[in-house]
Amino acid sequence: MRVLHVSDVHVTVSLADMPWREMFNKRLLGALNYKLRRRRQFARAAHKLEQLAQFAQREGVELVICTGDYTALGTEPEFAAARAAVEGLASAKFGYMTVPGNHDVYIRELDYRRFERHFASFLQGDALPGAAVDGPWPVARLIGDELAVIAVNSARPNPQVWRSSGRIPERQLEGLAQLLASPEIASRFVFVVTHYAPRRPDGTPDHWTHGLENADAFLEACKGMRRGAILHGHIHHRFRLAQAIGPEIFGAGSSTCERREGLWLFDVTRDSLSATAGRFVDGAYHL
Ligand SMILES: [Fe+2]
Ligand SMILES: [Fe+2]
Repeated sequence: MRVLHVSDVHVTVSLADMPWREMFNKRLLGALNYKLRRRRQFARAAHKLEQLAQFAQREGVELVICTGDYTALGTEPEFAAARAAVEGLASAKFGYMTVPGNHDVYIRELDYRRFERHFASFLQGDALPGAAVDGPWPVARLIGDELAVIAVNSARPNPQVWRSSGRIPERQLEGLAQLLASPEIASRFVFVVTHYAPRRPDGTPDHWTHGLENADAFLEACKGMRRGAILHGHIHHRFRLAQAIGPEIFGAGSSTCERREGLWLFDVTRDSLSATAGRFVDGAYHL
């Protein structure tokens, strides 16, 4: 089974196209940051997603996993652009699985389930009846005969401008532990997928203003995994981290950020995982 892991694609739309009535809050500062810095880094994001779809086709990718941060400010036009931009990737044989990032639930607002509305077709689990205990989460799917993927949502709105931390709700962690213990899933190789990194590249927890608040509880729940790996985004540098106890951790970085585009290509069997890093060179993605 060949699986492509991408993340933090941050599809850009012109500030002029963003709805100004949604801007009188944390988004004003976010919009300034976006204009000054991010827009340049992610100006070619939609184009690169087309390139990623071509790369996936060339490499025979059968499932695509994206670990969130589709937008900068979580507005309606950004979601519409991002959803259209991943259409090519979603045509893989076993489709596309995903989670939201913190940028996709930017502030608490009436329509804070915007991500789940736009990406609803990618949030259908099929592994076990009753697996979803918190809206669609966890989303658990059995892929072919040898792989299972469980996606948990670690993104939540952060009203403060200085904070971009996340948390996986306890009931999702309980659901995750139960899924990992079920015979249907335990007999397979398992990817556990979320936006936030449980550890930084040097193995330490991320800062409390930026990281996963309950990273230790998440890693504890994942210890029940016999063969598997954790896939995440949020930190815009690709890395892999082996743990003394527990599954290996893979961060895809940002797959579209200028000059540091990251991705992982996995070849998975029931008992083994082989990971190859990818990069963007001369206008195309390569291994
Ligand atoms: Fe990001
Ligand atoms: Fe993020």
